[in-house]
Amino acid sequence: MDPIKELNNEHLKISKILDILEIMVQKMEKNIYIPKADMEDILYFSRLFTDKLHHTKEEDGLFAEMFQAGYSKEKGPVAMMLLEHYSGHHCVRNMTQALVDINKKESTEKFIKNAFEYVTLLRAHILTEDKILFLAAKEKLSPNIYRKIGKEFKIIEAGVLDKKEIKKIDKIFLDLNKKYSNIK
Ligand SMILES: [Fe+2]
Ligand SMILES: [Fe+2]
Repeated sequence: MDPIKELNNEHLKISKILDILEIMVQKMEKNIYIPKADMEDILYFSRLFTDKLHHTKEEDGLFAEMFQAGYSKEKGPVAMMLLEHYSGHHCVRNMTQALVDINKKESTEKFIKNAFEYVTLLRAHILTEDKILFLAAKEKLSPNIYRKIGKEFKIIEAGVLDKKEIKKIDKIFLDLNKKYSNIK
């Protein structure tokens, strides 16, 4: 598959999970009960699919080639995307910490605050990548490099997650969609 298309498709999946997380925390704000297991599942997906798989493909595959092609590591669009990945990790870490004693008021507040930050951050991030950065990459990178990125993606895909983790991610995605997608 075209490596950029592959990343676009992963964005669709990540966006769906962001929508579900937003629904969850909107309910939590109204003191509606959300099972802790659902929050754990969202964080599992975010850590493994979003951070470990998707962001590694971008960072070690696409961005690495864009740096080689002349984009700055210190400032500019690719450096900004990297910074946003770190900010996203930070929100996930804070949500994970808050989940430990989620029944306490301050933990619930911490979870909600970081979840909203994470949703806003990643939605804007995905839009920038889809509409600006990836189009620039397509224009700037040669067909050979483009093919090389596709191969790197395959290696990353085979290396970062095991079969059990992939199965669990797929199950979480399906289960959460079934449970939350029609709820407003
Ligand atoms: Fe990204
Ligand atoms: Fe992305």
